[in-house]
Amino acid sequence: LKHLITLDGLPKSVLTQILDTAAPFTEVAEREVKKVPLLRGKSVFNVFFENSTRTRTTFEIAAKRLSADVINLNVSTSSTSKGETLLDTVDNLCAMGADMFVMRHASSGAPYLLAQHLRNTGREHISVVNAGDGRHAHPTQGLLDMYTIRHYKKDFTNLTVAVVGDVLHSRVARSEIAALTTLGVPEVRVIGPKTLLPTDVERMGVRVFHNMEEGLRGVDVVMMLRLQNERMQGALLPSSQEYFKFYGLTEEKLALAAKDAIVLHPGPMNRGVEIDSAVADGANAVILPQVTFGIAVRMAVMSMLAAGN
Ligand code: CP
Repeated sequence: LKHLITLDGLPKSVLTQILDTAAPFTEVAEREVKKVPLLRGKSVFNVFFENSTRTRTTFEIAAKRLSADVINLNVSTSSTSKGETLLDTVDNLCAMGADMFVMRHASSGAPYLLAQHLRNTGREHISVVNAGDGRHAHPTQGLLDMYTIRHYKKDFTNLTVAVVGDVLHSRVARSEIAALTTLGVPEVRVIGPKTLLPTDVERMGVRVFHNMEEGLRGVDVVMMLRLQNERMQGALLPSSQEYFKFYGLTEEKLALAAKDAIVLHPGPMNRGVEIDSAVADGANAVILPQVTFGIAVRMAVMSMLAAGN
């Protein structure tokens, strides 16, 4: 593994290896162990062309706990605002000694373009980690969600999992569904209105429900999604109240799932739109543990890439 651009096509053995590698790093994520030296002397550049709270910060923490030097490019104050191209920016960061780029971009495919550029310019030693590109993929979010599910449910092969909401515009959903199916979850359900599901959603190997109550019946894991308003140019948006009525996760709707069902959300949450506060802060929610596991999973990914593993 030189780059991590997508989970599509990665075999079960690789996904499992990443989750297994992350397990001991939870001690570092939870501060029982301060640091490990696996990336000592390496420079990790966080290049985020879209806003982020969790992903950017946990990548920074993960890299620092691996003893790397971390450089956060502030895109809003960088020379991209003066018209510098993405690849010119990257060439300049390479000249500063980058060993790894962690990139978020609004355009699907931007991290792939970066990896291709590095190969074409003889910089194969530099790794690229996709921190979310357009609607395409958010592989480390998919992995940390799998880590969270495995932590609470132990095994993927006896689960029914529901992914709920705006799948159409969600890179998170695409990475989650790819990982769930590869790891052997026998039933992955997708719940949402027709207008917020891809027209060929069944091709993803999922069962489709438009009625949330039906779709939630008996599920072991509920993975909520935010309405990605920023990617809905020109689309007819449902009002928040209307959306919440049909697709908001309330305690009443959650009662239809298995009693010990867990509720995940990648964040940022919009309370009262896709999730009620009583659920977000309730006993079934594992939303904050997801964030902590994210540090361990990102440590695993970066250490494996640095080792050329
Ligand atoms: N889950 C996620 O990508 O959150 P941020 O946008 O805050 O990074």
